[in-house]
Amino acid sequence: MVLTSTSELDLGLDPNKDSTYDRTAEIKAFDETKLGVKGLLDSGVTKIPRMFHSSNLDLTHTSETDSNLSVPLINLKDIGKNSSLRVQAVAQIQIACKEWGFFQVVNHGIGVEVLDEMICGIRRFHEQDADVRKTFYTRDNNKKVRYFSNGSLYRDPFANWRDTIAFFQTPDPPNPEEIPAVCRDIVIEYSKKIRTLGHTIFQLFSEALGLHPSYLNELASADGQFILCHYYPPCPEPELTFGTSKHTDTSFMTILLQDQMGGLQVLHENQWVDVHPVHGSLVVNIGDLLQLITNDMFISVYHRVLSRHIGPRISVASFFKNSSPQGAAEVVGPIKELLSEENPAIYRDTTLKEVMAHYFEKGLDGNYSLQPFRL
Ligand code: OGA
Ligand code: NI
Repeated sequence: MVLTSTSELDLGLDPNKDSTYDRTAEIKAFDETKLGVKGLLDSGVTKIPRMFHSSNLDLTHTSETDSNLSVPLINLKDIGKNSSLRVQAVAQIQIACKEWGFFQVVNHGIGVEVLDEMICGIRRFHEQDADVRKTFYTRDNNKKVRYFSNGSLYRDPFANWRDTIAFFQTPDPPNPEEIPAVCRDIVIEYSKKIRTLGHTIFQLFSEALGLHPSYLNELASADGQFILCHYYPPCPEPELTFGTSKHTDTSFMTILLQDQMGGLQVLHENQWVDVHPVHGSLVVNIGDLLQLITNDMFISVYHRVLSRHIGPRISVASFFKNSSPQGAAEVVGPIKELLSEENPAIYRDTTLKEVMAHYFEKGLDGNYSLQPFRL
């Protein structure tokens, strides 16, 4: 996709140019329906409301799409048993984390039936009776189960065509009764399996960095898991908005399950590259915190989700980061063992809390989130 002149898309879409448009009121009314984008669609809209229009040129006009490139696909089969296969996988992971910040894994040990059921469970939640769904809608940070549309709705320059249910699982999981009945069992099972896989991948990352295999698993700030389960309804005017705006993740690592619809893209060498769905695989990406502590040896890259006429699309992103008071207070900075005279620290020591505060304050605005921490 090549976007043309910037002024075409911008025409009439800048809220500041129209004094009669009350964006805050529009956002508030939408939020108060407690039914998200799915609710809008169910009400029969054929045009997307203006609050979803992406007028920010930086976000829409980054570059071209290149279909010849593809995100590395890494086979984890028998890496626990066969040391030469493990060495091979670690070498592939090292290259993928340095050059792409993204890869897909197969034979990761989680059965395809578990992945499929997780997607079905999340779909059941978003498609259940509106009166039941509504009762989960909240922006209360104290709740461990939250259903909402657009996490930073009130801060972002424009809203995305996406709804989400979030589960804050580790270190302090919700009571099972707090999890919606339509997806309760699978959410619990899936979270456990992803946590175990996360530990395996952190081991492989530690090895790829030349550290002790348990290094990353011993960081309190990385030992946390929250899960965002996204629902991207079909969009009547996909060229005017995004499923998810261009952003990096604030985690150490994210493990993503996507269905077969497609639409996820990563920015690689200034080209948007599709992350093609591979049934049974999981997508792994590096977050800002791992880029920071590896002193840029591993990179956290921009990614986005396009909106489509077809849908819904379902995805489940599991973020590894401990935002409990204990995890958030931990100092994070470039790992000393990785530094040398030739490779001096390029970030200052900070805390997870500070990194997160900056990330949430800026919202999904498309700006680079590690900038304030660079030396
Ligand atoms: C995210 C994300 C991608 C997707 O939640 O941070 O990038 O495919 N999701 O939904
Ligand atoms: Ni992301």
